[in-house]
Amino acid sequence: MTEVDSGTRTVPTIAELRALLDERRSAGASVALVPTMGALHDGHLALVRRARELADVVVVSIFVNPLQFGPGEDLERYPRTLDADVAALAGLGVDVVFAPSVDEMYPRGRDAGTTVHAGPIGERYEGASRPGHFNGMLTVVAKLFGIAQPDVALFGQKDAQQVHLVSRMVADLDLPLRIETVPTVRESDGLALSSRNRYLGEAERRAALVLAESLRAAEAAAGEGPSELLAEGVAAFGDHDGVSLDYFVVVDPDTFLPVSEDFRGRALVLVAGLVGSTRLIDNAFVEVGSDG
Ligand code: PAF
Repeated sequence: MTEVDSGTRTVPTIAELRALLDERRSAGASVALVPTMGALHDGHLALVRRARELADVVVVSIFVNPLQFGPGEDLERYPRTLDADVAALAGLGVDVVFAPSVDEMYPRGRDAGTTVHAGPIGERYEGASRPGHFNGMLTVVAKLFGIAQPDVALFGQKDAQQVHLVSRMVADLDLPLRIETVPTVRESDGLALSSRNRYLGEAERRAALVLAESLRAAEAAAGEGPSELLAEGVAAFGDHDGVSLDYFVVVDPDTFLPVSEDFRGRALVLVAGLVGSTRLIDNAFVEVGSDG
């Protein structure tokens, strides 16, 4: 166990984390968990600040989970910045950083164990482009919930489908914790913060703004109905060199299924695209059909 400064501990094993949390829980403390893959940015720090408000003990996990990366994805390249991450978390008064190895999390190998199946919504949108991604994500999240046994776990709205599927898992499997969603943090020009933004070159960084711009266009047209919203959003995404649209869809936030043409009310617009070789996602809530 490593002590960084005023009490932030970096813990690499499940046994150490459990011992530490058992002690705090038996003294009546509540526990919040912020699961991350590290390479922390202000979006993660917003989750941590909210966690600090909600619980006595804040645990941040940092684990680049191989199960949620497909063949040819960026598992090897994914930024690993543990020292800087721990320093940032210590500055926010995080109690414990849980940073296990792959062997600690998957002692029988990555493919040898029980996994969680995300169900049909896990095969749409991100899941269609990244087969198996959500099964791998839910498997590690379920493990982290079992390891830390938090009262509350926090996730960013930026990964809207992820939050939906985690909330579904908690409800469907009767897991005894609450999920708290924290709004997306954006750069001043609207780009949603993501650990993958650091892959972007200067021109790509400018091109990436098309995701947020297409959401704003969709939002402006939402009052006219779902098809106008989609048409405006896709048109605003447009054709740009080096940028390609993967999906642009408007879903019912409760079911995560695409809305029908007569849908009215609060909906969620999801967009994903490739900027160079970097896959980016974003989303926005809109009020559909409130015009006239
Ligand atoms: O959003 C992420 O960083 C990851 O999907 C998560 C939730 C930490 C699981 O590996």
